[in-house]
Amino acid sequence: MSKRYTITAALPYTNGPIHIGHLAGVYVPADIYSRYLRLTGNDVAFICGSDEHGVPITIKAKKEGVAPQDIVDKYHEIIKTSFEEFGISFDNYSRTSAKIHHDTASEFFKTLYNKNEFVEEVSAQLYDAEANQFLADRFVVGTCPKCGNEESYGDQCENCGTSHNATDLINPKSAITGNVPSLKETKHWFLPLNKHEEFLRKWILEGHKKDWKPNVYGQVKSWIDDGLRPRAVTRDLDWGIPVPVKGGEGKVLYVWFDAPIGYISATKEWAAREGKNWEDYWKDKDTTLVHFIGKDNIVFHCIIFPAMLKAEGSYILPENVPANEFLNLEGNKLSTSKNWAVWLPEYLIDFPNQQDVLRYALTANAPETKDNDFTWKDFQARNNNELVAIFGNFINRVVVLTNKYYEGIVPQPTDFKVIDEDTLATLRAYPAVISSSIERYRFREASQELMNLARLGNKYLADEEPWKTIKTDAERTKTVMFVALQIASALATLCEPFLPFTSKKLKGILCHSTLDSESTWDEVSTRKILLPASHQIGKGELLFSKIEDLEIEKQRDKLEASKKANEAAKKTLEPQKKEITFDDFTKLDIRVGTILEAEKVPKTKKLLVLKVDIGIDTRTIVSGIAESFKPGDIIGKRVTVLVNLAPRALRGVESQGMILMTEDEGGNLVFVNPDIDNVANGLKIS
Ligand code: MF3
Ligand code: ZN
Repeated sequence: MSKRYTITAALPYTNGPIHIGHLAGVYVPADIYSRYLRLTGNDVAFICGSDEHGVPITIKAKKEGVAPQDIVDKYHEIIKTSFEEFGISFDNYSRTSAKIHHDTASEFFKTLYNKNEFVEEVSAQLYDAEANQFLADRFVVGTCPKCGNEESYGDQCENCGTSHNATDLINPKSAITGNVPSLKETKHWFLPLNKHEEFLRKWILEGHKKDWKPNVYGQVKSWIDDGLRPRAVTRDLDWGIPVPVKGGEGKVLYVWFDAPIGYISATKEWAAREGKNWEDYWKDKDTTLVHFIGKDNIVFHCIIFPAMLKAEGSYILPENVPANEFLNLEGNKLSTSKNWAVWLPEYLIDFPNQQDVLRYALTANAPETKDNDFTWKDFQARNNNELVAIFGNFINRVVVLTNKYYEGIVPQPTDFKVIDEDTLATLRAYPAVISSSIERYRFREASQELMNLARLGNKYLADEEPWKTIKTDAERTKTVMFVALQIASALATLCEPFLPFTSKKLKGILCHSTLDSESTWDEVSTRKILLPASHQIGKGELLFSKIEDLEIEKQRDKLEASKKANEAAKKTLEPQKKEITFDDFTKLDIRVGTILEAEKVPKTKKLLVLKVDIGIDTRTIVSGIAESFKPGDIIGKRVTVLVNLAPRALRGVESQGMILMTEDEGGNLVFVNPDIDNVANGLKIS
């Protein structure tokens, strides 16, 4: 029976491109589910968009010296394109900077305000006087009160997932200046989650004990059992949706208040475009709402957003929130800042047109019940041993033999043996088997069942050996090829949610479009014949190709390079040394100089002996840079020299000063240069 569904996928932050963790955790499962629902005849709104507010975007903008709008414009396009390229079939991909979203979120806030659903309170919040800025969310780091992680953010700890108030952090530090914040009073609006505790307990803890995933249910239970407290839903920031009520001047909505409303505004935008009524998708009790998210989003989708919807009063609540755990990469946590990731745009450069391979590898190894590791070896194995050796191989044999024996025309079967009937009966059971897994959000299992159907085909061919019977029993061969073609056709239909590009290609090869009517998902079970005798199929075309060790090595090398760069970056971040006085500082005589001569100190690996013009005189300086610089390359270089360092002998050469050095991103030694060329040698640096 056709039903109406609203399927949402977490709105990604637009502060960087999308990587495989996002795809595996949220977007591929959400896409499989939505495609499946459409194929089984349901009315689906699959909704997503860019989450363009929040502190991470402001931080990124500051770092790059551009406006937040520039950052979100750039990444909105990049992310949107990646989703399209990977076949994520959103009905609408909107953005929270859109006017329709600002209006919708403002209205939502005003409704709750007018219904007295907020508590207005002046409280002391963390404040960075130097930056002239309140420190909410990611502007502050400190020790998580729950798990002791020293790098927890103000609103959430990425280690244990706990969501807290910034003032709960132990030893908070400003992420902007590193200062220890002070407290300053400010007014905010709080959503009193405590008021909704009873309802949440009944609805989730009693109502969804059986059907919600244990990881989701467990997290929700632990929060409710800890006792819910009011949460501020406004912030003293300048990037976001202005608080639309009196006294809200200069404040914006908390990003986690506005972002989930983005699901609603994106639905409105879509409905207006398609001539539909958006309220059917959000306010009709017969509509099923499902949120696909990663585990760090559980509290927001299971507690805060439902409390907002409940407080508003006219909305439906999610039927399920099938959150995934995290995907790791080669044993380490995925990290945008550490560049420990496989970025989708880069993947497509290295593996053009191989979106389905990644979709499949991520689904077959999805972090559904626990954190899981993505390795390039596993990726290669999923491709070579499953997609190529099982799925691709089966299709290739069927298509090649049909072309070879029958010029591509589906042969007329004669009498079916028990094995033929059994194989067809097993085939007809597959839609229900795969459906059952998908409907329980077990996409890994579903993908393996799909592969089992291809295995069935391979085994059938291996047992019946049409390539042998063609010489001895033409009639038998026709029946066998007929049965094999039915399996191929079923695969083309049933693989669509998982491998949409392959499905399209395979339907093309099998000429599904020239059938009187193509069988639906359910008809793969109910129709006796999927590809009738005398139907003409096309020429073969490889669906998948082997991935060689060399390609995998290249990916591993890329990661190795990230690791090295991170280590180098870490090195520069040594803790600050013991404090010195101003007098200590003035004792240092640092001056601009020019290298006049350079040669290696004989029998050493690291040492160069340099003659440096430092204005007052020309010095001999021995420097440990020979592994990084060739003597000939540094003559004429402008350098910075500590000139009053007590002379000391190095390998028999007296060194009369020290050249200041640092490291670049890759960990290579570089000179600390005066940044203009026309400074005279000898000028002091102070
Ligand atoms: N941007 C958030 C994240 O990446 C997810 C927002 S989901 C929404 O973690 F519900 F707020 F939209
Ligand atoms: Zn923690």
